[in-house]
Amino acid sequence: MITMKDIVREGHPALRQAAVEVPMPPSDEDKEILKSLLEYVVNSQNPEIAAEYGLRPGVGLAAPQINVSKKMLAVNVVDEKETLYSHALFNPKIISHSVEKAYLTTGEGCLSVDRQVPGFVPRYARVTVKGWNIEGEEVKLRLKGLPAIVFQHEIDHLNGIMFYDHINQENPFEPIPGALAVER
Ligand code: NI
Repeated sequence: MITMKDIVREGHPALRQAAVEVPMPPSDEDKEILKSLLEYVVNSQNPEIAAEYGLRPGVGLAAPQINVSKKMLAVNVVDEKETLYSHALFNPKIISHSVEKAYLTTGEGCLSVDRQVPGFVPRYARVTVKGWNIEGEEVKLRLKGLPAIVFQHEIDHLNGIMFYDHINQENPFEPIPGALAVER
């Protein structure tokens, strides 16, 4: 199982590399890695398990964060209606997005970043993500609100992008014109 000692932190080159596509159908080894990513985020949200293994709670994890430079990620997050979005995907990509932007009012955090980085992170308000699930079946997700933001954060990891790359350096809390404020 993945624990915090497996998660690489800022400054590790894996976080700045573009991850490679995972060949479909997925190998047993790649399936195991993908499963372990989802297992981490689910476990990290269980207070007893998180305390026992010292897991920092997270809603998403991408393979580069465990030093595996392959396109895989897992998300386990509820939206404002308490609908659960629990997905583990190979080769996820944004195939379309809204013009409208959105941002988390609290800013973003990352399991690979051991500090607070204040500021608004501009994201698309709505995205359609295409990927392949653990069985190698194609999946298409239409997302908005917090799940849309979490997927964009995790897909960024597959391209070597950190959330703070998007923050306005001169004025981190500068209003983003027309953007939807998302609470978490
Ligand atoms: Ni992250």
